[in-house]
Amino acid sequence: MPPVRLKVLHLEDNEEDAALVAIHLRRGGINADIHRIDTEVALSDALHEEWDLILSDYNLPGYSGLAALDKIRALGKLVPFILVSGEIGEDIAVQAMRNGANDYLLKSNLTRLAPAALLAIEANRIRIAKQRADLALSRSRQQLRELAQHLQTSIEQERAAIAREIHDDVGGALTAVKFDLAWIARHAPTPQIAERVQQALESVGHAHEASQRIMHNLRPAILEQGLVPALQWMTDRFGKRTGIHALFRTSQEQLQLPAGVPLVAYRFAQEALTNVSKHAQATQVSVDVTQAGGVLSIEVTDNGRGLSADDLAKARSFGIRGLHERAETVGGWVDISSNPGGTTLILSVPLSGPENGFIDQLFTNLDVDTPSGDADPDDPTVWG
Ligand SMILES: Nc1ncnc2c1ncn2[C@@H]1O[C@H](COP(=O)(O)OP(=O)(O)O)[C@@H](O)[C@H]1O
Ligand SMILES: [Mg+2]
Repeated sequence: MPPVRLKVLHLEDNEEDAALVAIHLRRGGINADIHRIDTEVALSDALHEEWDLILSDYNLPGYSGLAALDKIRALGKLVPFILVSGEIGEDIAVQAMRNGANDYLLKSNLTRLAPAALLAIEANRIRIAKQRADLALSRSRQQLRELAQHLQTSIEQERAAIAREIHDDVGGALTAVKFDLAWIARHAPTPQIAERVQQALESVGHAHEASQRIMHNLRPAILEQGLVPALQWMTDRFGKRTGIHALFRTSQEQLQLPAGVPLVAYRFAQEALTNVSKHAQATQVSVDVTQAGGVLSIEVTDNGRGLSADDLAKARSFGIRGLHERAETVGGWVDISSNPGGTTLILSVPLSGPENGFIDQLFTNLDVDTPSGDADPDDPTVWG
């Protein structure tokens, strides 16, 4: 095997000991380019360079191997470090290992030096590779989280914009057509024309209702009445539509919530109830809204078949994943507990704290002028 070439920094004040170390490295198949130093100042200088390995005596004139180790690690240098010393107590050896030494050897027994050096270098290489991989992974997770949150807020922005356009353009045009048809109806010269106009009026009425419904789905106007009435309404509608016994409970009639929170809470309940009707095979569901200790909680509990970790890991299911991301946009989180007797989803949002500031602003910009007083009370597409 060809010798391994290593650039070695050796803290050692005794020349003979240094020579001995060099011999043992060479015997162990290491072609070492050794730079020997014995002061703290020289160490500071040497640390501007890169080293494959640092060996250090314990007792140095006015300095110690442990202090050198501390300095090296404090600089964030992961370079392998082996304490090579005369007799040292076990406590010092332990402390050295704890402080980040890779190994310690006695000068009286250096046969292990070369293998220990190679092992330390390999261990270090793996540690650095792992650190890099961990860092890359956490960066990419962070980016993914930010992207998901960005998508969630973009979706709401887009929905709000579409709702505004439907309101302004489609709603406006339909109202105008209704007026015109009403005029024609009053001035219809023949009964047949009057009848046709009546039919047209009905069609326009349906189109108007549909546009209200779509608008409501895009941006639930009922939220203007407050989160509690909106969730009460949602729960009632859900019960009537699905035949599942749906109970709404709250300790609070009025909630003072930062902008953005009601919509996140509303979408949370909407998704949780949709899941109950789609997956749970439940006969009962309850929606509980509480505010305690400065934390808003929305809890949706069903008595269905429960869900498993596999269910949550489904590649194409983004409902619950989206809830986690949405919750984070307002500084909140989602907890799930489930067993074969049912499932509980809880959204928690701390209501004070600086993190809502940015989101407040973002969601304030989302506000659209919703049509006054004529929110559609019936919203069949919600649980479609
Ligand atoms: N309340 C529930 N009861 C039983 N299973 C559920 C419930 N909610 C969700 N699941 C399971 O978890 C999976 C993931 O749900 P979700 O992320 O909302 O995606 P999707 O509804 O699009 O499938 C569902 O496919 C279902 O198998
Ligand atoms: Mg779902």
